[in-house]
Amino acid sequence: MIYFDNAATSFPKPDIVYQSIMKAMKEYGANPGRSGHKLALRLGREIFETREVIAKLFNIKNPMNVIFTFNCTESLNLGIKGILNRGDHVVTTSMEHNSVLRPLKALEKEGIETTIVKGDLMGRINPIDIENSIKHNTKLIITTHISNLTGTIIPIEAIGQIAKKNGIYYLVDAAQSAGVYNIDVEKMNIDMLAFPGHKCLLGPQGTGGLYIREGLDIKEMGQGGTGSISHLLEQPGVRPDRYESGTPNGPGIIGLGAGINYILQEGMDKVRKHEEELTKHFIEEITKIDKVKVYGPLDVRYQAAVVPINIGDVDSSELSYILDQDYDIEVRPGLHCAPIAHKTIGTFEQGVVRFSFGLYNTHEEIEQGIKAIKEISREA
Ligand code: ALA
Repeated sequence: MIYFDNAATSFPKPDIVYQSIMKAMKEYGANPGRSGHKLALRLGREIFETREVIAKLFNIKNPMNVIFTFNCTESLNLGIKGILNRGDHVVTTSMEHNSVLRPLKALEKEGIETTIVKGDLMGRINPIDIENSIKHNTKLIITTHISNLTGTIIPIEAIGQIAKKNGIYYLVDAAQSAGVYNIDVEKMNIDMLAFPGHKCLLGPQGTGGLYIREGLDIKEMGQGGTGSISHLLEQPGVRPDRYESGTPNGPGIIGLGAGINYILQEGMDKVRKHEEELTKHFIEEITKIDKVKVYGPLDVRYQAAVVPINIGDVDSSELSYILDQDYDIEVRPGLHCAPIAHKTIGTFEQGVVRFSFGLYNTHEEIEQGIKAIKEISREA
């Protein structure tokens, strides 16, 4: 089996991730931050170590400003709904995932207005268009770092500068970049950074996080037990407790820490280079095949390891089914929860078949993928 669906979730994970989760569950899977006995303390300490390694990865000064969530969607909901109030205006882009677009749509009913800056046919966003969309009541800019549809890399540093210059908060959706591309929240003027644990950070599903800049007072999404200040009925104001009620996904967070440590040991630059080489190889070969349409910038300086394609007018679900059933190649077809991004690149009706490469893919697998597409396109 060849797994080319790493943009949906990375698979497989390094062995150390499986081992760490199993060990945490079997040997010290108590409830962290609650009981104060040895097992609870150990799990609590290791959860904190994961917070620390995340802080290190993104140049976050205080690990307590890293909030654990269950996925990037929950992080985005917290960031978006926590900061916006009636009368506020938001600037975002047409390359966003529904995890940004749907919360914003829901907030329209509460008097929050959104401007969606349109990308070009390759999914590129011009920071000047973002700047030109700013109004007197713009409170927040939200952009993805890498489009989950086209792999297009969005210039977040330039957008962060615009946000800072105009006194506007900047929320970055790092769903497809965290763990492979450099992110420095200080240098890039990022006020909130949403990331999943289970994609390029190599952790398990059910993990994710939101960085919230020190002093930025956003509302919590829920209240409950935190194991701290328990004599008061009000939700504690301290981080991370304010935003982390209830029992966390302890073993999952330990696995996430193992995934991040694995990346740091391998070297993030090495991982990225490997993915760039695979992507370059794939783009070079796939663009030579008759009837195949390939989307995105088609240059690894501007496109991550996410490459969408179509063969003529073949329905994307049908093509993906053939790849799965006849070739044992796993890809994702359809709309990728990014309907406006599809409209931007002109694939809303047909969808696309998305190939997304990861740490464990090889050049031999790329060759097999190319061979399969050649064969299918001959019949199409
Ligand atoms: N957002 C994930 C994807 O693009 C699930 O497939």
